[in-house]
Amino acid sequence: MKKLLRPLSRPIKKMSHNSNLVFDKISTRLPVSHGEFQLHLYRDFDGKDHLALEMGDVYGMENVFVRVHSECLTGDIFGSARCDCGEQLRQSIHIITEEGLGVIIYLRQEGRGIGLRNKLHAYNLQDEGYDTTEANLKLGHAPDERNYSLAAFILRDLGVKSVRLLSNNPEKLKSLTNSGTRITSRIPLNPRITPENAFYLKTKVSRMNHILDLDELSPTSPERDNIIRYITRKMKSLRCNRPFVTLSYAQSLDGYISASLDKPISLSGRESLILTHKIRSIHDAILVGIGTVLSDNPQLSVRLVKGENPQPIILDTRLRFPVDAKLLNTSVLPWIITGRKSKKKKQRILEGLGAKVFRLPANNNGVELPILLSRLAKKNIRSIMVEGGTRVISSFIDERLVDLFVLTITPFIIGSGLQAFEQKIFDSWDKMFSLRDLRYVKIGRDLIVCGIPSWDNDK
Ligand SMILES: NC(=O)c1ccc[n+]([C@@H]2O[C@H](COP(=O)([O-])OP(=O)(O)OC[C@H]3O[C@@H](n4cnc5c(N)ncnc54)[C@H](OP(=O)(O)O)[C@@H]3O)[C@@H](O)[C@H]2O)c1
Repeated sequence: MKKLLRPLSRPIKKMSHNSNLVFDKISTRLPVSHGEFQLHLYRDFDGKDHLALEMGDVYGMENVFVRVHSECLTGDIFGSARCDCGEQLRQSIHIITEEGLGVIIYLRQEGRGIGLRNKLHAYNLQDEGYDTTEANLKLGHAPDERNYSLAAFILRDLGVKSVRLLSNNPEKLKSLTNSGTRITSRIPLNPRITPENAFYLKTKVSRMNHILDLDELSPTSPERDNIIRYITRKMKSLRCNRPFVTLSYAQSLDGYISASLDKPISLSGRESLILTHKIRSIHDAILVGIGTVLSDNPQLSVRLVKGENPQPIILDTRLRFPVDAKLLNTSVLPWIITGRKSKKKKQRILEGLGAKVFRLPANNNGVELPILLSRLAKKNIRSIMVEGGTRVISSFIDERLVDLFVLTITPFIIGSGLQAFEQKIFDSWDKMFSLRDLRYVKIGRDLIVCGIPSWDNDK
């Protein structure tokens, strides 16, 4: 899209008194820990100062991330656990600084427009058992007295062409649209559900139609959402002519992915396991070696979250796939990739049980991965999550076929067992590689490390 040039100075038109919009504007540079915003202050005819934090130059831009946030002193400044305001503001800042482009509009309409003092009265009523809307009504106010026409005015003033709105509130979407803002999509902001905010969030959903999934099968967490967004962005930006490959595995603090082949252990905590299932759900396929099927009997499905099961793919040159494997009882039956010489009879048995068997060239290390990936691309598989075990991870690393690492480090010391990589793939110093564009995120008790491999650089 052709970028429009921002006019050097755009004086604010003095609006009529009745419109109660903007009277005056002042702009300044505001560096923050993750980048630099341009801070614009818009004074309205009531003398209230509303703010717009602009990252990058949004003038003339389409699909700009925008958060229209109403002031909540208790949540935004003091981190109150009664609401999700502070968390939504921080998530929005995070998303916009990661993108390097976006606007946060900070409207001075505290307590859904009833002011701080009344909000505190409403809190006391909520502690007596009223929900957040009933409390407002009891105080003689509407459940929500906010107005978003000023936000639409600010977006016009900043020259934003269209918006990806960071919000769970359909009323805000409707009101901005009615005021002339073009919204191309809504990006949900998922709050952490705590005993303190659970009732408030349920009320937002049931009485104010907020679009929040409080279902147990959609456990929300901003950290998990951040990782999913990071992966999705990488998938889009690193498009290549084969499927995008995410390598994901869990290891102990001392670097083992398993204690031994005959004794599978679950390393990931429940919280990071939910993340793993979420990551599975955004890939077209999930791939493991036959060693993992024989030792762990995995399902490779998306059980802990809502979403589509990816296509399971098993590398198995000799067709050792067990006929009683759990993978033959899942909704998406596995594709087994075997060599040219494996037994036809076993193939027929497995196909009789619903699996699909594909024969591909193999060498001493197993199935030839570049050929496999180009065949999968032809079958419309655009992304693959490779989950292990050691030999498969090593083959993908050895062939430099990994686009993204998602490593879960769990607080176990195992002492001995299987490491993620076979030592033979690091037979010379120049096989070493590093990760760049790193993310370190704590999920539950585990540490998630994401990064893009730099095969030749940064040594
Ligand atoms: N912590 C984690 O996140 C995690 C995840 C997954 C697995 N694991 C652990 O990893 C262990 C299994 O690892 P593993 O190394 O024994 O088995 P694996 O990597 O799962 O499977 C390796 C087998 O796959 C076949 N294969 C076919 N083509 C291949 C290719 N191009 N490259 C590599 N292998 C190919 C080979 O068997 P054929 O020669 O018969 O074809 C090979 O022996 C288990 O203990 C499991 O618990 C841990």
